[in-house]
Amino acid sequence: MIAIFLFIIVVVLAGVNLLTPKKYKKSNNIPGPEPWPIIGSLHLLGKHKTPFEAFTALSKIYGDIFSITLGSTQCVVVNNFNLIKEVLINKGADFGGRPDFLRFHKLFGGDRNNSLALCDWSVLQKTRRSIARMYCSPRFTSLQYDSVNVVGCQELKVFLSELQKLPIEQPCDIKPIVLGACANMFTQYMCSTNFPYEDKEFQRIVRYFDEIFWEINQGYAIDFLPWLLPMYNQHMKKLSYWAGEIREFILARIVKDHMASLDYHAPPRDFTDALLIHLEEDPNMEWNHIIFELEDFIGGHSAVGNLVMIALAYIIQNPEVAKRIREEVDEVTDGQRFVNLFDKAAMPYTEAVLWETLRKASSPIVPHVASTNTNIEGFQVKRGTMVFLNNYELNLSGEYWEKPDQFMPERFLSPAGHVVKPAHFIPFSTGKRTCIGQRLVQCFSFVILATLFQHYNVNVAGKIDIKPSCLAVPPDCFKLILTPRFSKHK
Ligand code: HEM
Repeated sequence: MIAIFLFIIVVVLAGVNLLTPKKYKKSNNIPGPEPWPIIGSLHLLGKHKTPFEAFTALSKIYGDIFSITLGSTQCVVVNNFNLIKEVLINKGADFGGRPDFLRFHKLFGGDRNNSLALCDWSVLQKTRRSIARMYCSPRFTSLQYDSVNVVGCQELKVFLSELQKLPIEQPCDIKPIVLGACANMFTQYMCSTNFPYEDKEFQRIVRYFDEIFWEINQGYAIDFLPWLLPMYNQHMKKLSYWAGEIREFILARIVKDHMASLDYHAPPRDFTDALLIHLEEDPNMEWNHIIFELEDFIGGHSAVGNLVMIALAYIIQNPEVAKRIREEVDEVTDGQRFVNLFDKAAMPYTEAVLWETLRKASSPIVPHVASTNTNIEGFQVKRGTMVFLNNYELNLSGEYWEKPDQFMPERFLSPAGHVVKPAHFIPFSTGKRTCIGQRLVQCFSFVILATLFQHYNVNVAGKIDIKPSCLAVPPDCFKLILTPRFSKHK
């Protein structure tokens, strides 16, 4: 229905455009396509599989920096590493804002500034990031890193016993089990709480988180055409419902017990305690801030689970890669014990598989917004302009990579076999809004993947279609065939 409506608008506007010799003038001097009335240049994005593919195509016409109007929003797209660095690092302070999409407000209690990833930059955001950093960016030598390892390994035993319940050699939906494991790793690590996989409420909330993750990774016309809202009412209601149910679960099943047992004079037991103590000590922190922060970080488990699913999709389609992971894990563990996080240093190939997955998946960097009048490469950029960082081009262009279309983890290995990442590879972005969860992603996804291939041969029934430039796979996605490997484990 919405598609038909949009189609009609596009056709009508195409007519208007042809009949109207005077084109709409762009408000800056950056080259770019002339916008149509009302929809701007949205029609140009529709011609490609993803908006980022469209940006790459347009950069070939207009150059590495071009401007584009989407709906009535002025946007700038930067397409090479130097320009991306200029926006994210050199002028990070000028580009600290985020888009004001209606969907983002719906997901965070009516105000996107409740969200760590979708808020504009502020002193409060600086504080929230610094509380999170200690727990969500654990350093290799820290107690938190040890704790990530213990939590991950304990959960993987439960995960394996869940996998054992699946029918052997038949296509199975393993995504809910992978997500359940990730969710428990996150809630155990951040909240000292975990849930049985058969807990229906837990299953439902894990599903809602996954629905939201899928949702947040899609682009919608309403983001740039807010007057379409009446047609998206049902959709918006669904988002608010999922978000509300998640909040209730976190309050009832996690925060309530923490508050009842918290000793404000003792060191925090976990991230949840740290947030509650901050609420008490910092007059600028409000209840909503800490609850949404906790929710944001627990929600990070969906990113890890989806990354693991995408890695599996690529590995299965490249059987040589699966073989090399198995050989590496067997050699490091000598087939005698379970793999753990401290094996990562000795398993560079498996780590490289995850970097290659991140390259191929090429998850978009959340758009930034200019918070002041500024410039990029001398081009004037007005306050409020939305800036897209085209990391799709950085990750998939032949200018940066040899055989970019192929899945080749070895591209991340030096001749001596160490993991090396080129400077232009920034899957977690860079600068003041860089991803805070990246270390947790690397830790948990590594142990899950290594454990899976240590214990199972993984195959697929049909062909897997992975959407380019997207870290999410649909909540109901491809099924896998798991065959237990011969194992000496006790
Ligand atoms: C494969 C998984 C992930 C990828 C590829 C990823 C990537 C990114 C990217 C590209 C950004 C935008 C940075 C920018 O705007 O410059 C970001 C922001 C963020 N990420 Fe991640 N992320 C992942 C998982 C996680 C997880 C698991 C967590 C939490 C535990 C997390 C927490 C955050 C937060 C809080 C921000 C917002 C930071 C800010 O705006 O100040 N991410 N991430």
